[in-house]
Amino acid sequence: MSNARLRKVVFPVAGLGTRFLPATKVVAKEMLPVLDRPLIQYAVDEAVDAGADTLIFVTNRYKHAIADYFDKAYELESKLAKSGKDELLALVQGTLPRNVRCVFVTQPEALGLGHAVLCAKPVVGDEPFGVVLADDLIWNGHSAAGRPGALRQMSEVAFREDAGVVAVEEVPREDTGKYGIVDAESISERAARIRLVVEKPKPEVAPSNLAIVGRYVLPGRIFSLLERTKPGAGGEIQLTDAIEDLLHEKPVLAYRFEGTRFDCGNKLGLVKATLHMALNDAQIASDTRAYLDSMNNS
Ligand code: UTP
Repeated sequence: MSNARLRKVVFPVAGLGTRFLPATKVVAKEMLPVLDRPLIQYAVDEAVDAGADTLIFVTNRYKHAIADYFDKAYELESKLAKSGKDELLALVQGTLPRNVRCVFVTQPEALGLGHAVLCAKPVVGDEPFGVVLADDLIWNGHSAAGRPGALRQMSEVAFREDAGVVAVEEVPREDTGKYGIVDAESISERAARIRLVVEKPKPEVAPSNLAIVGRYVLPGRIFSLLERTKPGAGGEIQLTDAIEDLLHEKPVLAYRFEGTRFDCGNKLGLVKATLHMALNDAQIASDTRAYLDSMNNS
């Protein structure tokens, strides 16, 4: 993977999002807002920060909001332009930099994350690519704070080491059954070479408490491996199973990213992310703080 950069990033957004029903009946959970921006905007910003110029959204046929969100909004833009609301116009037009293009691919049935990633094969081809699960919001301040987002940190390691890289985080032992769990040998402060990966093990058999979270940098080879991956845990085609196969062919590193992860796939995580952003928002931070204090005192 050396002498190259990460150009393509896949966003699987075709899950059923059952934990947010009924909101997710017609809207992908990745369109749920954290303050004034949908989760997918944070994910796209992170991919752009990593240098990506081709964003591939794997969607299902019921959910068009993501395509509409990144498309031009002619009527709204012309109204804002006519009324001189330049700041709002810049916000509406700024969802995507001009040099970045979006490609939409349909996942005909929600057969699992691995299957969703495989749907992107015709667009990605044979090159290394990123995968970002937008419901895992990883916040490091990004370019605005002069700090690299998680995907940029990972792609730098992937190209330098010519390896696949998955983001990991320590989770409480009792939660191993919710994640892919790795057994890995440390090679630097943040990176470890994976020996073994197990999908959703019970705490008593989990090889560690180091869990794979929603960021991956993978070689194009993963597609051939996914093509022969049989349904695994939960009857779904698991990305983790194909990564396990990849381990036999090339190094895959577990990377402890710098940044804070909010699991916005569940209600509490979304609330925490919203509070975090509110407490860091110049306009509403102090009112939010005062409100929280008033709740503590009541
Ligand atoms: P989740 O495991 O969180 O499933 O998917 P989900 O369906 O989105 O949500 P719940 O559990 O029912 O509430 C992890 C990621 O993989 C995508 C999801 O959109 C999410 O980003 N995914 C999952 C797909 O794109 N297709 C699938 O078949 C499964």
